[in-house]
Amino acid sequence: MDLLKTIKENAVKLQNHIVLPEGSEIRTLKATAKILEDKIARITLLGNRSEIEAIALKEGLSLSGARIIDPFTDNNRQKYAEMMVELRKNKGLTIEKAYELLNDPLYFGVMMIKAGDADGEVAGAINATGDVLRPAFQYVKTLPGVSVVSGMFFMIFKDKSIGDNGMLVFADCAVMPDPDSLQLAEIAVTTAATAKAIANIEPRVAMLSFSTKGSAQHELVDKVAEATKIAAKMNPELLIDGEMQLDAALVPEVGRLKAPGSKVAGRANVLVFPGLEAGNIGYKLVQRLAGAETVGPVLQGMAAPINDLSRGCSVNDIINMVAITSNQAGAKSL
Ligand code: ACO
Repeated sequence: MDLLKTIKENAVKLQNHIVLPEGSEIRTLKATAKILEDKIARITLLGNRSEIEAIALKEGLSLSGARIIDPFTDNNRQKYAEMMVELRKNKGLTIEKAYELLNDPLYFGVMMIKAGDADGEVAGAINATGDVLRPAFQYVKTLPGVSVVSGMFFMIFKDKSIGDNGMLVFADCAVMPDPDSLQLAEIAVTTAATAKAIANIEPRVAMLSFSTKGSAQHELVDKVAEATKIAAKMNPELLIDGEMQLDAALVPEVGRLKAPGSKVAGRANVLVFPGLEAGNIGYKLVQRLAGAETVGPVLQGMAAPINDLSRGCSVNDIINMVAITSNQAGAKSL
């Protein structure tokens, strides 16, 4: 399966409306032109119209069909500012501060989504992860029943014998530095749901540790074992097992030896890391040393899809992320 091809075709059918707050950023504009040409999504760019149009002219880009909104002057400022005050009154947000925050396209974009004026957002080509995520956490918040946003990757290998036809899913590799057992359980359940919804795979989730089924004793091992139990209660249908080491999760003979009888060991296709250090380093090791293609991070658990780019992203990365965001918006339960 060509995952990105499927995701793009699905996005074309969905025609969701994605807001791009970094509207005068050159890669974003190049991506917008291609997205509109290929009809992958409807796009709103945030920024100053004449600045955006001047860049497009200079670069020979056609942006016809894109909406351009200037957060400094838009008619919806009052509506959004009042919503912000209502949502953050327990944090002491004043109307003056709300207007000031709305000058920041990252807040403006999030409020468009909150108000139902856009289906999703992609940003991060020129903003750090924390700056993209914070407005989303504060105003869009998490899905009902979910307390933690996390970031998953589709890892795609040339060797089709790995995972499901050459694909593994890794999480959390992007957001939650030190999840407790309940948060880790949520990350596992949400990642399985995202993998199923976007890649149409039957998840087999391994909860990773440096121990397999009690081979080592440590509070970090207990955390993963506890998270496995909680996740199994949260979703009794889910094929999940842990704690287990990476080799037990992926290599059939090691799985049989270290976790006999496990339905996951040796054939896991979703790997849940015990914390962000392991997850972030782990996905980059596999990307750099095993040459895996990475698709993500796909942020999950948010009430509406908002995705973060790497500042080193390419035009193609932005196009792919817009298509993924549209897929998530189409499947509103993610
Ligand atoms: N899920 C949902 N809500 C969250 C989460 C989360 N994972 N983390 C924080 N929040 C909420 C808090 O509850 C709080 O809400 P409130 O204001 O309504 O009370 C709000 O967000 C701010 O919380 P803080 O604890 O102040 O969070 P802070 O803004 O300091 O940090 C952040 C949040 C930025 C996501 C932090 O966890 C972080 O920096 N994570 C690492 C991100 C990163 O750098 N990843 C690696 C790069 S990405 C890559 O390589 C692919």
